[in-house]
Order: sequence, then C-alpha cells, then structure tokens
Amino acid sequence: MEAARCRYLILLLITACRLIPEVAADIEEVSDGPSDTQGPIWLTDVPAAVDFIAASEIAVIGFFQDLERPVVSIFHSMAQHFQDVFFGMSNSSEVLAHYNITSNTICLFRLVDNEQLRIEGEDLENMDTSKLSRFIETNSLRLVTEYSPMTVLGLFNSMIERHLLLVMNKASAEYEESMSRYRQAAELFQGEILFVFVDSGKRENGKVISYFKLKESQLPALAIYQTLDDKWDTLSITEVTVEQVKGFCDGFLQGRLLREDHKSEENTPKEEL
Ligand SMILES: *[C@@H]1O[C@H](CO)[C@@H](O)[C@H](O)[C@H]1NC(C)=O
Ligand SMILES: *[C@@H]1O[C@H](CO)[C@@H](O)[C@H](O)[C@H]1NC(C)=O
Repeated sequence: MEAARCRYLILLLITACRLIPEVAADIEEVSDGPSDTQGPIWLTDVPAAVDFIAASEIAVIGFFQDLERPVVSIFHSMAQHFQDVFFGMSNSSEVLAHYNITSNTICLFRLVDNEQLRIEGEDLENMDTSKLSRFIETNSLRLVTEYSPMTVLGLFNSMIERHLLLVMNKASAEYEESMSRYRQAAELFQGEILFVFVDSGKRENGKVISYFKLKESQLPALAIYQTLDDKWDTLSITEVTVEQVKGFCDGFLQGRLLREDHKSEENTPKEEL
C-alpha cells in the first residue's frame, strides 16, 4: 500500500507527457540490447524498468522468459509502428519477479490514470500484429488523449469516470496555444478527470459534437460528462485558458451545471459516441 502510494506520488511529480530527455539519455546508455535504436529498450534490472515506466506517458513492456516465441518478433514490429509509445523488453528474473510476472506477458503502463494492462496466457499465445496494435492504440490514453473510435473504447474502460472534451478545429490559429494551456489544466485534474481533444475538423467526429447538442457556431467548446450517470455539461469558449477550464471542471465536480437541458436522451447508448 505504502509502496503503491509512493510510486503514485513519483508519477505525479513527473510533468507527464514525454520521455524526459535526460532519462532517455540514461536509458540509452544502460541499454545493452539490440543496437537498432527503433527497437525496444532492453531493461536489465529493476531500477531501469522503474525509471523507464515512470518517465513514459505510455510504456509497453514485453516480459519474456522465452525469447524464441513468435510473439517476441510481433512485439518488435510494434516498436517500429508506434513511434510515440515507449517499448521496453526484459527477460531478467529479478525484473519479472518485481512486476509479479510468472509467464510471458506484455504489459502496458500509463501515467495518466496509473493503470497497468496485461496480456498473458492464452491471449498472448493467440496474439497477432493487428490484435496487438489494436490493444496498444485503444489503451494509449495520455494526459490529453485525441478522440478516435479506438481511444473512445479505452476511455470508457478507464477507472476514471469523468471525461472533459475540448472540441476545436485542429486547423484553427488558436489550436497550438489552446492545447498547451489545456495540457496545463489537465495536470491539475490528473487522476480525477480524463482530458480529451476532439478535432471538429474531422467529419467523423460530428457524432460526438451532436451528442452534446453543440452547433458549429458554438465551437470551440468544452464538454464534460460522467460515465456513471451520463450527466454532462458544455461551455462555449473562444480560446482555452487554464482558469476557465479549472472553473468549469470544479463547478461540475461540485454538481453545478451551466446548461438547463443537461439530461442526455436515455436511449442514446455510449457506443454512439
Ligand atoms: C536473457 O536473454 C539473453 C539474450 O538472449 C540471454 O543471454 C540470457 O541468458 C537471458 N536471461 C535469462 C534470465 O533468461
Ligand atoms: C506484486 O504483488 C504484490 C502482492 O500482491 C503487490 O503488493 C505488489 O504491489 C505487486 N507489485 C507490482 C509491481 O505490481
């Protein structure tokens, strides 16, 4: 319990997002794995594994007792495919024991909700490239996750039941600045609210926008909902400020709703998002 809490604090202290450059350099140095820099980082001891996970927004680690399995080469190919996910690999019995691994396992660790997802046993034996790539894509939740038909599944599978959406056109002039402030706000609510970005420039996102009864003229907007009771609220904005996002989230957490007709239609299933 103590250890878990301590680890959580360490994770919170890391300003999320990317692999911190210094740590990345250290990992490169300690790595005695394949010289191919695109491949998974070889994690030879527990501190290396712990640092690697703590410094990555999304870390996927293959814990393999047997390196001759076909799944190992599938795992290698994933590292080429997902450039913004950090891949590590270990066959050290010390590392496997630390993570309670008793058979070949692929584990996805993510910072945003401190979640560990495992593929093991029969599931691992039946793994192929498309299944593994779907698993990683679906579960790659970040400090700010871009909405897609894949990530929405991961969002609903998270233990965190409140999601905030920024609905904005990625091509708009305000995008970069707004996103940087949105990320700052996300750090304030880490572990409490998942922050999502919805590109209103993508036609296929029209369903999400209409679910919240937002019209084109009301964008950009913030939308918040909780999966437990489908309660939701929206706020039209011109640009994102940390204070505004914080005020909107705090209000919602206190049960204050800005909209009158906040009740979603009972018959709109979540999958429709
Ligand atoms: C890990 O893999 C390396 C390289 O294949 C091998 O030399 C080593 O014996 C393995 N270690 C264990 C604990 O299986
Ligand atoms: C391994 O399992 C033990 C006992 O269930 C647990 O206390 C510990 O936190 C686990 N370690 C990790 C790294 O998950």
